[in-house]
Amino acid sequence: MAQVVVDGVTIEVLFSERKIAARVEELAEEIAAANPKDLLVVPVLKGSFIFAADLLRAFYRVGLLPEVDFMILASYREATVSSGRVDILRDIETQVKGRDVLFVDDILESGRTLAYARDLLVARGANRVMTSVLLDKPGKRVADIEADFRGFECPDVFVVGYGMDMAHAFRELPFVGHVTGKA
Ligand code: IMP
Ligand code: MG
Repeated sequence: MAQVVVDGVTIEVLFSERKIAARVEELAEEIAAANPKDLLVVPVLKGSFIFAADLLRAFYRVGLLPEVDFMILASYREATVSSGRVDILRDIETQVKGRDVLFVDDILESGRTLAYARDLLVARGANRVMTSVLLDKPGKRVADIEADFRGFECPDVFVVGYGMDMAHAFRELPFVGHVTGKA
């Protein structure tokens, strides 16, 4: 397994830039095959911003022409366990009644974040709410939700890169990796 050292921190590469790029193209094809109507894409910020940007450009290549609006959600954690409370820090400004909505998130872990967002848009009258996540950690699920489209199953380790951070660092890495220690 390839390792890189960034600012004195050793990171083991789990999903390379090339592997992610190929999977994102496949995901766009899978989502297009679901034949969404009047599609609104809602990236859940912050962690999903790079995945969403790549996925949206892949949508163009498969002929999907969605509207895009953003949601910022904070799920509060006590130690490493989600406390269960989800707050909306920024809501979408777009009407969803009767539309198909695709949430885009970085990681599906407990599922509380996505379950909360899904229930909210269903309550607002969305026609179909779908979820797309880059990484799925199925071992940590608490809420009753599965991703409709997922990039990769991820081992139960803390990952960074491709938008995801550890204490605000490492979002810029073009790959997804696991911090294994200080160099
Ligand atoms: P949950 O599914 O509600 O538990 O929330 C998943 C969210 O927790 C993701 O959207 C990430 O923002 C964050 N998260 C979970 N695991 C990791 C990780 O390994 N690295 C970085 N962020 C993570
Ligand atoms: Mg997140």
